[in-house]
Amino acid sequence: MRLPFFSEKARDFTIAAMTADHAPMLASLHREDFVRPWTDGEFQALISQDTVFGFVALETGNARAGPVGFVLARAAADEGEILTIAVARSHRRHGLGWQLMDAALRELYGQRAEALFLEVDETNQPALGLYRRLGFREVGRRPGYYDRPGTRTGGGKSAALVMRRDLR
Ligand SMILES: CC(C)(COP(=O)(O)OP(=O)(O)OC[C@H]1O[C@@H](n2cnc3c(N)ncnc32)[C@H](O)[C@@H]1OP(=O)(O)O)[C@@H](O)C(=O)NCCC(=O)NCCS
Repeated sequence: MRLPFFSEKARDFTIAAMTADHAPMLASLHREDFVRPWTDGEFQALISQDTVFGFVALETGNARAGPVGFVLARAAADEGEILTIAVARSHRRHGLGWQLMDAALRELYGQRAEALFLEVDETNQPALGLYRRLGFREVGRRPGYYDRPGTRTGGGKSAALVMRRDLR
């Protein structure tokens, strides 16, 4: 299974396997968008787990500049789970989210997983757009799961949608 190149712009970037060295940059990218950002140490601990794998988007020929996007996933038994994905604001809408998800889907397909799951805030239109376009469908809903940005103490909540993409 190989999805076509989504955007010409994405050719300027290389998708590579994530390593623990990427952790500080991942934490910094994660902080841009998530109400509860993960620390450098949390990323390192996750990456060191046998069942966890990830991919980063690096500017082609300039890997030192660090990742501009990443996806982190877990494989368990015959299922996979997306733990998190983010693309730098300055690099969105160029197909990098698609390329990163494609890499995760291919890895899991190679590991003979049957399906890939993820959870997404029902108000997150960019992520929902990406996942729907990749063939994910809604299989569950957890009401009041996420704190809305800026409402960490104000009680604003939104539901998590559980989505599934069959791999076989
Ligand atoms: C979700 C995210 C990873 C998408 O990354 P991206 O590199 O911009 O996505 P792509 O350029 O590969 O987009 C692929 C498709 O996804 C959908 N999509 C992406 N951004 C979208 C937006 N702002 N609104 C609607 N659909 C969108 C579109 O179908 C798009 O195709 P198109 O550009 O031809 O319309 C990015 O917006 C992001 O990092 N968001 C913050 C972190 C986050 O919310 N992560 C998800 C947690 S579950």
